[in-house]
Amino acid sequence: MRKIIALFTVTATLFSVEVLHGLPYSSFQSIKHHGFKTEPQFTEKYFSQTQDHFNFNTMGNGTFNQRYLITDKYWKKGYGPIFFYTGNEGNIWEFAFNSGFITELAAQHSALVIFAEHRYYGKSLPFDEDSFNIPQIGLLTVEQALADYAVMITELKQQLAATDCPVIVFGGSYGGMLSVYMRIKYPNIVAGALAASAPILSTAGLGDSRQFFRDVTADFESFGPECRDAVRGAFHQLKELAEHQDYRRIQSEFSLCKPPSSAQDIHHLNGLLRNAFTMMAMLDYPYSTHFMGSMPANPVKVACETMLSGSDLLSNLRNTAGIFYNSTGLLTCFDLYNLYLECADPTGCGLGFDSLAWDYQACTEINLCYESNNVTDMFPPMAFTETDRKLYCSKRWAVVPRPDWLKTQFWGDALSTASNIIFSNGDLDPWANGGVRKSLSSSLIAVNISGGAHHLDLRGSNDADPVSVQRHEKQHVNQMERP
Ligand SMILES: *[C@@H]1O[C@H](CO)[C@@H](O)[C@H](O)[C@H]1NC(C)=O
Ligand SMILES: *[C@@H]1O[C@H](CO)[C@@H](O)[C@H](O)[C@H]1NC(C)=O
Ligand SMILES: *[C@@H]1O[C@H](CO)[C@@H](O)[C@H](O)[C@H]1NC(C)=O
Ligand SMILES: *[C@@H]1O[C@H](CO)[C@@H](O)[C@H](O)[C@H]1NC(C)=O
Repeated sequence: MRKIIALFTVTATLFSVEVLHGLPYSSFQSIKHHGFKTEPQFTEKYFSQTQDHFNFNTMGNGTFNQRYLITDKYWKKGYGPIFFYTGNEGNIWEFAFNSGFITELAAQHSALVIFAEHRYYGKSLPFDEDSFNIPQIGLLTVEQALADYAVMITELKQQLAATDCPVIVFGGSYGGMLSVYMRIKYPNIVAGALAASAPILSTAGLGDSRQFFRDVTADFESFGPECRDAVRGAFHQLKELAEHQDYRRIQSEFSLCKPPSSAQDIHHLNGLLRNAFTMMAMLDYPYSTHFMGSMPANPVKVACETMLSGSDLLSNLRNTAGIFYNSTGLLTCFDLYNLYLECADPTGCGLGFDSLAWDYQACTEINLCYESNNVTDMFPPMAFTETDRKLYCSKRWAVVPRPDWLKTQFWGDALSTASNIIFSNGDLDPWANGGVRKSLSSSLIAVNISGGAHHLDLRGSNDADPVSVQRHEKQHVNQMERP
């Protein structure tokens, strides 16, 4: 514990390796259970950001307003470290509200906290309402986003007289990927990174395309194999109705606003249903949350209880999907094409403008060719191959994906020469096995959060946090408190 405090209060520009030997992650974690519950109290600001970092002709010196949130409530001015959240695919307030851990940690370490919004998301639109047109969408790349953060950090440090303060980046999911990339691409600016639930391998095209939906299935299976069987059985019944083109019956069983009328509609319905299970697995937190939708506590358990609540499997499946889509209880019917968008990410793109931006990223640099097959998972066979991706992306965005580019540029699994990165993954999270699960060196540390869903560890402390994690942390704290 003393070591990590030393790390954060010295104005070193590097994490020292010695510190990383001292189980830094558990020091991060230990904070959560020592009674620090803090409100973010951020101020919303805008930064004048370069539109195109890599071509001096296209946009000249054009700029746009990039949103960021900042709080110096805990900061020891000019001296304490800077905790910088590398924003991902959405409104930055969502991430700030759901990453209370970072402010709790900042309170402990007298840190300045900044949450930066990713270009093309939320209010950080480089071309305002034209941002999602072709070719304006073309400045949406991982490289531009990283350059935004590098430039922003550098300038804000000057403005705030913080040039000597070390910067630690934080991120969850795609934001965690960005944290890793910041550390390997801009080690001159970033001293270390905490990447929570960052699937840096699977999104680089490494690994098994069946892994994601297999791991979603495993979460429901762990409630009991009968849960998995009920889901599979319900999809089987839906398939039979579809084969008989019994569209009226499908409409009434699933409370659809309009009767389906084609194989495409059935495919879409299957995608919508599968997406509900995906979201419940990802957001399987032990307390209710409002993050990427509203979820009850332990949604996987709630889903399984619903799936097993009577002998009518189809109505059980409808009600299970309703846990996610009908959390308000206000839906009178399910509108297939309004509730779910099919896109280049088979795990879902969400809705609204943010979904357009994410679809474009999934069509260019981020590989998400995951399939379900009803063998290694409980879902209907729905492939999404590299060929499917290419076809879709050239139609939708007039781009051809470059499956190898992310791996080439950000090292893929050949990370051993990087340093000062902590990769944390919850074992309930279907994204976990797309990330780094084993430590690669004394300063590239993998941590398992037992009982943890998608970046649970970034969330503020909660009395319902898994006991296993608390126990785990206590051990580490004890270890660290030894002289
Ligand atoms: C660059 O910015 C300056 C100051 O805002 C402006 O006067 C100038 O016209 C710009 N140049 C180009 C090439 O856009
Ligand atoms: C949504 O939930 C409410 C409250 O439980 C329920 O009455 C309604 O039927 C649900 N809507 C659909 C489409 O299932
Ligand atoms: C899944 O596989 C089972 C066993 O082969 C089969 O009976 C069922 O129809 C399949 N379900 C779907 C939705 O394809
Ligand atoms: C985390 O769990 C995975 C899966 O059980 C395992 O393969 C890995 O070695 C564990 N990693 C650490 C750092 O304990």
